[in-house]
Amino acid sequence: MHPTLNIAIKAARRAGQIINRASLDVERLTVGVKQQSDYVTEVDRAAEAAIIDTIREAYPKHAILAEETGSSGEENGSEYQWIIDPLDGTTNFIHGFPQYAVSIGLAHKGVMNQAVVYDPTRNELFTASKGGGAYLNDKRIRVSKRPKLAESLIGTGFPYRMFDHADAYLAIFRELTQKTAGLRRPGAASIDLAYVACGRTDGFWEFGLSPWDMAAGSLLITEAGGLVGDLAGETNYLVTGNIIAGNPKIFSQLLQVIQPHRTPKLTS
Ligand code: IPD
Ligand code: CA
Ligand code: CA
Repeated sequence: MHPTLNIAIKAARRAGQIINRASLDVERLTVGVKQQSDYVTEVDRAAEAAIIDTIREAYPKHAILAEETGSSGEENGSEYQWIIDPLDGTTNFIHGFPQYAVSIGLAHKGVMNQAVVYDPTRNELFTASKGGGAYLNDKRIRVSKRPKLAESLIGTGFPYRMFDHADAYLAIFRELTQKTAGLRRPGAASIDLAYVACGRTDGFWEFGLSPWDMAAGSLLITEAGGLVGDLAGETNYLVTGNIIAGNPKIFSQLLQVIQPHRTPKLTS
């Protein structure tokens, strides 16, 4: 295993311990509101601090982009950047709804290189290294082989904070409720992507995500034989925040349904 992946796993497990301990008494959490429907707790911050400590101890010169504390370390000019969501699915966590994860990705020269998505509620550790395949708890995973959209289970994320693209989203939602076997909105994008990677769902789409929601999950999918793209079908999703993913057949069928709903403000 690559040493950087080892560090990512160590960091994710430390954060997972903090999250699991706090989940025993969610009533006691102090919840802050960053903006409408965007919550943060002391658990998000403590988990992020533990992750960053673990990474900094091993790789003091690497750059870091983390949800709660932002960017650091660019001044060292490293080719490596860690992209961290310490607790993806905070709204679920606050409600005691057991669907949330720690997401840690490492990019090298802007290309995803290592990935960990850790679901501490189920002790499920999803990992991937570029060129080395994707794994769930050490077992190789692959995207599903389901060829038809009509038989597919598709994950998504509802607009909940920014409603600029709500009409386009709802039109796509309407069409896909009729053209798929079912849609799911579990509430943690990193796990949604991990589930595409291991074939629990056949595809996924969401608009307005942040890089830390997608960095690790996207590498899990490509290493599991799937495709990930933005609304133009290109690979700029970490920048645009709009993502479509799936096994290769479902990816192109999703793209076909979604693309006609693009607007001048929602092109890629
Ligand atoms: C959120 C979750 C959610 C997605 C949101 C994200 P957070 O992350 O991934 O599924 O719909 O867009 O912001 O804020 O809980 O880390
Ligand atoms: Ca997130
Ligand atoms: Ca988060």
